[in-house]
Amino acid sequence: MCGIVGYIGRKERAQDVILDGLRRLEYRGYDSAGIAINHGDELRVVRTLGKLLNLESALRDVPLVGAVGIGHTRWATHGRPSERNAHPHRVGTVALIHNGIVENYLSLAKELQSAGCELTSDTDTEVIAHLIYEARKSGAGLIEAVRETVSRIEGSYAIAVIDERESDRIVVAKNGGSPAIVAPGDGEAFLASDIPAILPYTRQMIPLEDGDIALLRAESIEIFDAAGTRIEREIRRIQWDPVRAEKGGYDRFMQKEIYEQPRAISDTIGARALEEQGEIDLDGIELDPKWVEELRGIHLIAMGTARHACLIGADIFERAARIPATVDFSAEYRYRDPVVGDRHLLIPVSQSGETTDTVVAARAGRERGARTLAVCNTQDSTIARECDDVLYTHCGPEIGVASTKCFTGQIVALYLIALRLGRLRGTLDRGAVREAIVDLRRLPRLVERALQSWNAIEQVSRRYAHFSNFLFLGRGLGYPVAMEGALKLKEISYIHAEGYAAGEMKHGPIALIDEQMPVLLVATGSPTYEKVLANAAEARARGGIVIAIADEGNTEIRDYADDVLFVPPAPEPLSAVLATIPLQIFAYQIATLKGTDVDQPRNLAKSVTVE
Ligand code: F6R
Repeated sequence: MCGIVGYIGRKERAQDVILDGLRRLEYRGYDSAGIAINHGDELRVVRTLGKLLNLESALRDVPLVGAVGIGHTRWATHGRPSERNAHPHRVGTVALIHNGIVENYLSLAKELQSAGCELTSDTDTEVIAHLIYEARKSGAGLIEAVRETVSRIEGSYAIAVIDERESDRIVVAKNGGSPAIVAPGDGEAFLASDIPAILPYTRQMIPLEDGDIALLRAESIEIFDAAGTRIEREIRRIQWDPVRAEKGGYDRFMQKEIYEQPRAISDTIGARALEEQGEIDLDGIELDPKWVEELRGIHLIAMGTARHACLIGADIFERAARIPATVDFSAEYRYRDPVVGDRHLLIPVSQSGETTDTVVAARAGRERGARTLAVCNTQDSTIARECDDVLYTHCGPEIGVASTKCFTGQIVALYLIALRLGRLRGTLDRGAVREAIVDLRRLPRLVERALQSWNAIEQVSRRYAHFSNFLFLGRGLGYPVAMEGALKLKEISYIHAEGYAAGEMKHGPIALIDEQMPVLLVATGSPTYEKVLANAAEARARGGIVIAIADEGNTEIRDYADDVLFVPPAPEPLSAVLATIPLQIFAYQIATLKGTDVDQPRNLAKSVTVE
């Protein structure tokens, strides 16, 4: 969380590039924003509370001219959102932006105060700026001052620092769960938390690793380790298409991303599904058949929407490859002493590849000997780099804070892995995989068809936008889909919604059901379809209103539901992808009717890089 951006290069350009970068990173936090520009020997800082728009309008009248600058968009951790807590923090000649958490900031603050420093914010970040400035006053150059300071910081950080007395450079340092990339341009250099910020300017980047300190000048980028020794880091080519990070005529990114699902799914399948051979090629990832045969279990770890994809994945692994599969919140896994070792496959699933809980949980599993295979959307992200293997979802940049296309992309990626494992273990023959591939290849067209119901779903959502509580129910694969539908609704419309296993309804939640609590019921074709119908009848018998998600052609469902959102029928597990589409649209439409900020819902940030 928090977005950091920096630019050094041509005169007059820094402010524009930084504001543009912040706009592209605003999904990382939007409590406040700020910018610092070095112009010659003069450093100027402007900070505003609230969204980036406020900063943009503050700069409209008095633009900051200069060739070197840094900018920040904040998701508050220490210190409430306010102008004084906004970054950049300026101390003397130094201005600094930070993403992360300084765990020992209280002791550092005490030490600084005893030495006579006045702290003017409630943040943990300000102590870093003071320490750097104090080191500068004692004669250290900017890069030495940063090196000395970071050696005293406990916690995670991606920081960028400029100083009006060394105005030809930006110093960047990274440690822990806060991502930072630096990128060379033509006579210019960039830094950012995430690729979208630099997409329009360069196709190259270097992801910084823990302990790296980078010195950016217009003509060069040098990277040093904690001891000050120069190190070489490989320059990576950015694969994402810049156009994909634009709204492209849609009202909101979330809407665009929902519509992009056929393409995202088709790109994720790509050349991995070999229909003729009845085989899956996971980008050449080598899995020793004997090791696969002896696998004791698969552990899937993730947070939020990605965890819902894992719940579907676990079911698929058990069915297709007959391997016991468990799912955990990454935040729980790392603390619960799991039984995991070299006979386990650990699959961290993450859109951003930067979710701290998932990064750390994956490390913990790896340390115990598990083989790690990440499912990840962001190229060269921390999780992608640290795991033994990565299978990318090719969904393109996901900018809307609520995840949509990456959820369905993750299901598809997990299905591909399950099919491969099934072949290696002999639980699936070529014919079965061939059939699965034929279905997978049809999936993008079926999703397109499901999207054609957008207007019909909009009509239905109008009837329900005034309710304050919703229950989402499903069985089997419909259960994680129900949880995902509830999560989408609550995060963008702020309406209370719960996802439950439909079979659990009678064990408690049924007490909630009345005419004020609509029930969204996933009732697409499945082995438990009849049981789901029984749940619908039970809800209605208690005055409940039922909105069912059902297969096109299902004529009886109208007897069980007040409204029906139809999707094209498909075999499991692909039916889970199709059942998700109307729930995404339903949440989107209700939020739009309520007038919330769909792309940047309150209190949330796209990548959660703090625990
Ligand atoms: C919800 C949402 C979050 C993320 C979660 C994990 O719409 O987007 O619940 O799924 O924060 O993020 P990643 O996938 O980046 O690890």
